[in-house]
Amino acid sequence: MASYSSKMLMIFMVFSYFMLASANFYQNFDITWGDGRGQILNNGELLTLSLDKASGSGLQSKNEYLFGKIDMQLKLVPGNSAGTVTAYYLKSEGSAWDEIDFEFLGNLSGDPYTLHTNVFSQGKGDREQQFHLWFDPTADFHTYTILWNPQRIIFYVDGTPIREFKNSESVGVPYLKSQPMRIYSSLWNADDWATRGGLIKTDWSQAPFTASYRNYNAINACVWSSSSGSSSCNSNSDNSNSWLSEELDNTSQERLNWVQKNYMIYDYCKDTKRFPQGLPAECAVNSLS
Ligand SMILES: *[C@@H]1O[C@H](CO)[C@@H](O)[C@H](O)[C@H]1NC(C)=O
Ligand SMILES: *[C@@H]1O[C@H](CO)[C@@H](O)[C@H](O)[C@H]1NC(C)=O
Repeated sequence: MASYSSKMLMIFMVFSYFMLASANFYQNFDITWGDGRGQILNNGELLTLSLDKASGSGLQSKNEYLFGKIDMQLKLVPGNSAGTVTAYYLKSEGSAWDEIDFEFLGNLSGDPYTLHTNVFSQGKGDREQQFHLWFDPTADFHTYTILWNPQRIIFYVDGTPIREFKNSESVGVPYLKSQPMRIYSSLWNADDWATRGGLIKTDWSQAPFTASYRNYNAINACVWSSSSGSSSCNSNSDNSNSWLSEELDNTSQERLNWVQKNYMIYDYCKDTKRFPQGLPAECAVNSLS
């Protein structure tokens, strides 16, 4: 009897660990602004942010992370979403902050969203890469993943790597490695710049605009404790922390090349006009595969 119940208890503990680590928005997130425009639904399995003429809305994670592989499924504002921006990012505090960004710039019905990415270290960004997607991101949920470990940051879409930002400390570029970051997302109006440089305005007759979130997963992540000033790393069931040293294998590198060749619409590392004094130092490191 004793062994039976302790086995049950263990099964329960493992089960609740996974329940906690994934899914539940009540346990993992706060809706921080938007006066009721952000909502957690379906017992915490679904979260929606909305935007109308008066306000957008936003959320942040309760935890801070120092490295992690974090998945979120998003279904973006459908229809005429021109002028709207859905931002999904990691960010630390302070004036020399670190940040890893996914931003989805809406468009007219039938025209493609732009996926804008950026990486800030010590408060310095200017590292944009932009993409179109190979699917309609408003028709269904898709998984957007940020892998952040001490060697590299990889942006994944449905498991396909679209961008790698390597640790380039060897050429004097500060890397994101000591400031814990929180997860943030927001839906807001940016029709002064977002769609074709601000030419196309938000059509408020379509409001409210709504983006949906589900299946948040930070099972593989190091949760920061500000009281102890250290982080403790969760790991998946096989107890390996392989994500902490994850890199692109040949197959993944080929998929990344495919995305960059066919879907990348802007790369700061190719913008020699913008950097007449020479491209940023990390560009040379990142072009070596
Ligand atoms: C919107 O669609 C146009 C036309 O296809 C495209 O050039 C542009 O990159 C798209 N995205 C934004 C944010 O304007
Ligand atoms: C990966 O590609 C490199 C050259 O591009 C090759 O030398 C290496 O053997 C490949 N590795 C695997 C596991 O196929």
